[in-house]
Amino acid sequence: MAQENIESTLHEDRQFPPSESFVQQASLHAADLDKLYQQAEQDHEGFWAEQARQLIDWQQPFTQTLDSSNAPHYRWFPDGKLNVSYNCLDRQLEKNADKTAIIFEGEKGDVEHISYRELHHKVCVFANALKAQGVNKGDRVIIYMPMITEAVVAMQACARIGAIHSVVFGGFSASSMKDRIEDTGAKVVITADGGNRGGKVVPLKDTTDQALENGCDSVETVIVFKRCDENITMQDGRDVWWHDAEQGQSEDCEPEWMDAADPLFLLYTSGSTGKPKGIQHGCGGYLLNAITTMRWVFDIQDSDVFWCTADVGWITGHTYVAYGPLATGATQVIYEGVPTVPDAGRFWDICARHGVTIFYTAPTAIRALMKVGDDIPNSYDLSSLRLLGTVGEPINPEAWMWYYNVIGSGRCPIVDTWWQTETGAHMIAPVPGVTHAKPGSCTRPLPGIDAAIVNDDGEEVTTANQGGYLVIRKPWPSMIQTIWGDDKRYKETYWPYFGGKYYLAGDSARRDEDDFFWIMGRIDDVLNVSGHRLGTMEIESALVSHPNVAEAAVVGRPHDVKGEAVFAYVVLKGTRPDGGIDEDLTQELRNWVGTEIGPIAKPDDIRYSDNLPKTRSGKIMRRLLRAIAKGEEITQDTSTLENESILLQLQGKA
Ligand code: PRX
Repeated sequence: MAQENIESTLHEDRQFPPSESFVQQASLHAADLDKLYQQAEQDHEGFWAEQARQLIDWQQPFTQTLDSSNAPHYRWFPDGKLNVSYNCLDRQLEKNADKTAIIFEGEKGDVEHISYRELHHKVCVFANALKAQGVNKGDRVIIYMPMITEAVVAMQACARIGAIHSVVFGGFSASSMKDRIEDTGAKVVITADGGNRGGKVVPLKDTTDQALENGCDSVETVIVFKRCDENITMQDGRDVWWHDAEQGQSEDCEPEWMDAADPLFLLYTSGSTGKPKGIQHGCGGYLLNAITTMRWVFDIQDSDVFWCTADVGWITGHTYVAYGPLATGATQVIYEGVPTVPDAGRFWDICARHGVTIFYTAPTAIRALMKVGDDIPNSYDLSSLRLLGTVGEPINPEAWMWYYNVIGSGRCPIVDTWWQTETGAHMIAPVPGVTHAKPGSCTRPLPGIDAAIVNDDGEEVTTANQGGYLVIRKPWPSMIQTIWGDDKRYKETYWPYFGGKYYLAGDSARRDEDDFFWIMGRIDDVLNVSGHRLGTMEIESALVSHPNVAEAAVVGRPHDVKGEAVFAYVVLKGTRPDGGIDEDLTQELRNWVGTEIGPIAKPDDIRYSDNLPKTRSGKIMRRLLRAIAKGEEITQDTSTLENESILLQLQGKA
């Protein structure tokens, strides 16, 4: 394992206990939490079985909690039957039919309140429409939608009929979408004529058309929701408007009763090698941890207005937009656009107008909004907020303090939640009425989550603050089931060491004197740009597919808003530009990566050199490249470099 990325980071002694006012309303207190920990400690499977019986409505109760016979393909609650959409919608109808499920706000300001009854109706009608288009249990459906209610309707409708959805983030390119369509073998694509983002219309249907131009033979139907009145072309025999597909469909749709371990969805994420991998999640276990974490970490209560700002294209938007809030009968806000339209007060304006009580976002958004100063948030009434959360990357203490003081007025606890696409739900996070938070730490593993830090030999690191690999030692319900179509890669990626016993998260971490966890960074070649996961290999492949590029190496460099920025070293097929500068080509390559992957992957810096630094065995010296990107002194042995002038070129000095 490459331990080169393990670097000790900040030290932080400040502790922030929950405010008295928060503790008074919190549903989980220290004694309750202790009891959960004890139960989980004494009987891991029994603990999860008990939670699953209490929190999920089963059509057929399970008698076995965990099937480990084909480990590490664990199957939770294998003989139980349930439907996730039933648990999110139907079971709310008895008490919450008229309660608002979704407060939708479009970027242009259009607002809609949708009750549980209305949402149930929409999902059933659309589920029937999907069936009428020939979608059956187990079929894959690609969802490429703006951040609107219908994205959730589409996901829930798939869950209802047992189709496996795979949401592709609306910012991904046609080529990324094509890869995902081909890997899943999807039968149907659900998209929209466009979505409003950043004052522009995102041309989702046009991009879908491009993706489907060559190949993608599995796709029979494209369903198009009309959102923007865009002028688009509908292909005869393939494309159908959402509203036409719904014509005449009944509002009754018996849920498909699924085995708990049947797949619910695939979500593609980047790894250190190859193309993005389809992370497969199952029905029962995933739903269970979506619910437990909504309760434990978000302290969700009947009167809350919950807002997770993530797009449904990411795991956060799956667990804490499409599933968790609905499964707990919550009212949630869904916002279509970006935080800076019409100005940087948009998030706070939405919080104030809709009375948001729980607000969950990424550190990159907090840092960007912090930059514009306190006056903007101070001009809104944020007194409805009671709990704040962050996810996706480490939050620097300065941003934490700003969030705590300026947005939360020192009254709202902050839950810094560590988890991954693969873990399905929060793993290490505070319980807000109990934990004394420290800025920058995700605090402690939740009950039933056996997280540990181990060394190369798989032994637990017991010395405080000594870094190691973050692993999970016991299976947990919402764990990844496999990589779609690639069981081998699943085993090799996540269970490679320690006799295949521990799940390897891919992060390094340390544990302080109080047993608090501090995430230190990835141990692989994965970048975290604005909370989005990108493989350096993916960006390198995109660059070398450009006709002028011979070789490329991509690393991350610290960035004060994005967390990490993409830094690319490029060797051209022809000669290196004079002085290493060619603005036009740099722009062209950035756009090229934007087209190949998506705008989030565009390199911030591109540096041209005659060669890349390699070890004697031909491996690119990434550590050196990272140091140069950070502007650090070069302390590594560079004697293997063919000529020293390369070093100056890489540093941009020649
Ligand atoms: O490196 C960790 C970082 O994000 C990675 C997971 O990325 P993804 O699968 O895209 O899921 C992001 C949203 C759950 C992790 O391996 N990460 C996530 N949350 C935190 C974090 N790093 C530090 N602190 C966090 N709270």
